[in-house]
Order: sequence, then C-alpha cells, then structure tokens
Amino acid sequence: MADLFDKFDGIIAERNALLKSGALDPFKVTMDQVLSETEAMIDGRHTILVGTYNYMGMTFHPDVMDAAEEALRASGTGTTGSRVLNGTYSSHVAVEEALKEFYGAEHAIVFSTGYLANLGLCSTLTGKGDYIIIDADSHASIYDGCAMGNADIVRFKHNSPEDLEKRLRRLPPEAGKLVVLEGVYSMLGDVAPLKELVAVAKSFDAMVLVDEAHSMGFIGPSGRGVTEAEGLEDQVDFIIGTFSKSVGTVGGFAVSNHPKFEVLRLVCRPYMFTASLPPSVVASAEKSIRLLMHADNRRAHLWENSKALHYGLRSQGFGLATPEAESAIIAVILPDQETTVRMWNALLLRGIYVNMARPPATPAGIFLLRLSLCASHTAEQVDTILEAFAAAANDIGLALPLPEAAE
Ligand SMILES: Cc1ncc(COP(=O)(O)O)c(C=O)c1O
Repeated sequence: MADLFDKFDGIIAERNALLKSGALDPFKVTMDQVLSETEAMIDGRHTILVGTYNYMGMTFHPDVMDAAEEALRASGTGTTGSRVLNGTYSSHVAVEEALKEFYGAEHAIVFSTGYLANLGLCSTLTGKGDYIIIDADSHASIYDGCAMGNADIVRFKHNSPEDLEKRLRRLPPEAGKLVVLEGVYSMLGDVAPLKELVAVAKSFDAMVLVDEAHSMGFIGPSGRGVTEAEGLEDQVDFIIGTFSKSVGTVGGFAVSNHPKFEVLRLVCRPYMFTASLPPSVVASAEKSIRLLMHADNRRAHLWENSKALHYGLRSQGFGLATPEAESAIIAVILPDQETTVRMWNALLLRGIYVNMARPPATPAGIFLLRLSLCASHTAEQVDTILEAFAAAANDIGLALPLPEAAE
C-alpha cells in the first residue's frame, strides 16, 4: 500500500537538516506568556515581538477587552451554528454596522476568518465562463479561492499594470472578469500601484476586489487602506479585510456598494457552511473598529516607528525589499536559506522575534526576515531591535553592507 505521506519526504528531510544545524525550530515557537502587544516570554527569555500583525496594538486595549468579557458573560463562549442558521446574534449585526460606518459602504458581510472571506468571494463571484485575474504574488487564500471556483485563472506579473493590460487584452470582451489585488503585499511590505492597476481593470470592464488585510487602520486618512489613500473608493467594487491584524482579534469581512451584494449570504459556501464567530470576538472587533475610526495618534506613531526601523536597518547595511517604508512591514532580504535561519535564530536568542519566510510564501528565490511594527512599540524598543540586528549579524559572521535589495 502506498504511504500517502511519502510525498512529504523532501520537506521532512529539509526540516531535519535545519534542526541538526542547531537552530531553534521556527515552526514551534511558543509564546509561553504574552506580556503586552509587543512583549512575550519565549523559551524563558523576555522577547520583543516584531513579527506579529498587531499593527494598531489593539489586543490589550482595555475597552476592547471589556467588550469581549461582557459579551462572553452575556452570551456564552460560542454560537454553535452557521450565520445562516442559529449563528447570527445581534453582535454579528452590530459589527457589520461598524464596518459599514468605517468604510462608508452600503453592505458588509462578516466571515469567520479573512482566509474564508477570500475563499468565499473568489470562488463565488466568478463562475464557469468568467475570468479571475490575480497578481502573481497573491495571498494563499486568493489562490485557494480561485482553485475552489470554476472560473479561468489568469495571473499577471506582480504590481505590473502593463502585464495586467496585456493579459486582459487577450480575454473575450464580453466575458465576466474580476481583477483581484492587495493594497499592501505581506511578504515584501510593498504597496500596489492601485491607481494604475484599477484604471487598467476598469478600461476592460472588469470588477475589482482589493484585499486590504495589511493596510486597514493605518493607511489612508481614515485608515481604510490603499483604496482610500489613492482616492479609489468609488471604483473598487469589493474590499476584503480581516480582524486578525489591526483589529486585534480573529474574523474576516467583505464590504461593497453593489446593490446585489447581500445575495452572497445565500450562495457563498465559506460563509454558509462554517460556524460563526463567538460573540466575545465580534463584540471586541466592533469596539476595536470604532476605536480605529479615531486612531490618528496610533497611526502617526506607527508610521514613525516604521520609518525609524527602515532607516536604521538600511544605515546598518541590510538589504531591504522597499527603498522606503511603505507600510508597517519591513522585509530584510538575505542571501540564502541558511543565512536567514541563522540570523533568525541569533535574533531570537537576543530576545527579538521576527518572522522568517521563504518560497513558496515569498517570490521565487527570495529568503527574508519580515519585521512588522506595532503602534505600541516605543522608540526605545525600536533602538533595541536595531542594536540586536547589528549584534546578530556579528554573531553569525554576516558581513555588512549587503547588496541593496531594493534597487
Ligand atoms: C493578504 C491577506 N489576506 C488574507 C489573510 C487571511 O486573514 P486571516 O488571518 O483572517 O485568515 C491574510 C493573512 O495573513 C493576508 O495576509
């Protein structure tokens, strides 16, 4: 009998080799105690977290925690049902109302995760005979949504309006088309040239969906993302987002002004065939979203942190993915997998947690350490992170400066 696990032998061998090198296991990091939005105890060590999606620092906000606690006491630990059966409580309706206000949109639908929101919209909006056109560096949930649906999938070169135009030109003019974009791409922290991409999509009568997972809260004058920053809110048909980043809990959503949008509640399988979010989660999300409507100070501080860290790393000679800080994500490009693992490990031993990423999560051939900032990081923490990068490079004998990755 064939062992169905044999196909994973390559990855098992790779992981064993990694562990033999003496590195800590990057897939088994455990936060033994979370002390705040920016600090945890890991492996007995006090650690600064600069690899979370807690961009706006909402996870320990007292009002957000109070909202969760009150809902927990009032409505119990879970809904035990789908949104379309017994799983819609008044708190689910309330968080959808908060999203409508936040985005100034007619409709909002909450899913149980952002992954499910992309899975649902990508697989349901387009069907047989339609085309779904995606950026090559799209998040896995967009790829999986395409794989689940019946539309033809067309990929275009990352952030290239020229390539998008070339691909759209080849498609039948009368066919239904959905162009799927992200405001900020999570691996490199680069912002999409949304104005150009949306103009191309619209010139071919395509609908446009923008995933603003990594920009909600702090990009755009009101934190509505790159779509808002670029003045495109009347041209983008659907915005996808998540509660698992700036909102500080878990859940996903889609907002739109399309008059038929609500029909998705009747046809979108990842919305219908899974349990709805617990009342404590949606109550905290609602509170957090309302606070994010008035979060100018946090937004400004997050930008300061991001710029300071970008400047500091660049000055030390690290190669960064973007020439300037474009978002709260700063990607440090390293020459190969081994150096990346050793650097990640040396940083953790020095009490700094960052994300390590490699293909297929990153574009082909790119190994990186991803730093994501939080509005609650202090200037002193940013300095400590910078000092630790210099020391960790020294620990592993990494010669700086590295080549300018952004050029
Ligand atoms: C661009 C993008 N979209 C969607 C998601 C999924 O979000 P969630 O964690 O809510 O499932 C992520 C998560 O990392 C993401 O980076």
